Amino acid sequence: MTIKIFRNFSEIATLKPAHEKDGRNLKPSDLGIIKNASIVYDQEQILWVGPDSEFPQEYADIQAIDASGKSCVPEIVDSHTHVVFGGDRASEYSMRLNGATYEEIAAAGGGILNSMTGTNELSRTELLKLAQQRIKTIASYGVGTIEVKSGYGLNFEKEYELTHIIHDLKNICRPDVQIINTFMAAHAIPKDYASSYLYMKEVVLPLLDRMAEEQIIDCVDIFHEQNYFSEEDVISLFERANRLNIPVKIHADEFNDNKGAILATRYQALSADHLLATGADGIEALKNSNTVATLLPGTGLFLGKTQANARAFLDAGVKVAIASDYNPGSCHCDNVLMIASLAAPMYKMNMAELWCAITLNASHALGIRNQGALIPGLRPRFTVFNTDSIDRVTYNWGKNLAI
Ligand code: NIG
Ligand code: FE
Repeated sequence: MTIKIFRNFSEIATLKPAHEKDGRNLKPSDLGIIKNASIVYDQEQILWVGPDSEFPQEYADIQAIDASGKSCVPEIVDSHTHVVFGGDRASEYSMRLNGATYEEIAAAGGGILNSMTGTNELSRTELLKLAQQRIKTIASYGVGTIEVKSGYGLNFEKEYELTHIIHDLKNICRPDVQIINTFMAAHAIPKDYASSYLYMKEVVLPLLDRMAEEQIIDCVDIFHEQNYFSEEDVISLFERANRLNIPVKIHADEFNDNKGAILATRYQALSADHLLATGADGIEALKNSNTVATLLPGTGLFLGKTQANARAFLDAGVKVAIASDYNPGSCHCDNVLMIASLAAPMYKMNMAELWCAITLNASHALGIRNQGALIPGLRPRFTVFNTDSIDRVTYNWGKNLAI
């Protein structure tokens, strides 16, 4: 197998100590900084990492790339996106700024159902092309693993198509970009269904069975919220997914404390996402589980809502990730690194917590356990920046330093 070598990065953040602590209770030093660092790897795994002064003799004759002046972190992961959609909702953004309420926006034809129309108007080829362009932009920020949810088709045929589009994206993008295919037909209730129960029964559950048979989905997700999907809907979906051996995720406690985080832990969900309204009992449940709390600060900022109480999760020892939630309505920002850099001071996160949230813990939120730190034996997935210090990466909000 071909061995590749980077020598003399000015600085790398290995996240080795964070990895040893399973991404919880992190101190700044858990970033695991090494200066003048070198990395040796093959296609499958990292073989050696350390200060160049200790570079192993056995690799000395292999040609290496000079990485001086550059820095490196474990691969950035965006563990929550909705990149497959048609149309946009710019007018909703301005309506909101101009004082319209959620109800007024919905009455004017806004919301998820607006994107449902925009998505159903486009063909499979058109949607694939748009999503491919979006993934390309996201990857240009140094993001190497991207979770993509279906959920703007909202009928059997279109949701089937969306899941296949994500599967096509996965094949087109690999190995450089790794796509995780999340089935989220349970995103909103289309107008032609009298209840969420009927939509679950006629569309979501039968489609899940079909997708499981075709073996193209990696996870299942659902929007648990008043006027969306109830606790009973979540339970019926999660029980079916458990039986089919497909991991689950949940949009939980976004606007109200619906006890979605607790529900997530009961089904060993990979992650519970949003969590703006989660109470102390939800935090307690998460702390005693492997379910990652995925915070989506871009959404709170975009909607002008309050933010999740990040410190309460972090101080309790919950595993916390940050993702973009990139979607046409509630967060039309595709840059998870910028979102995390913006959120860290607001959330009072230290540097280890910040980087772990978009690398190690974000990969765990997708069920990927063999990446997220620069340690021999883990997969060689990392992000390189054209700057000599990790500090400068997040200091430069929104400036793209990725190579
Ligand atoms: O994660 N919360 C539900 N779904 C999306 C928003 C979707 C939309 O408004 O189009 C989210 O924020
Ligand atoms: Fe979402």
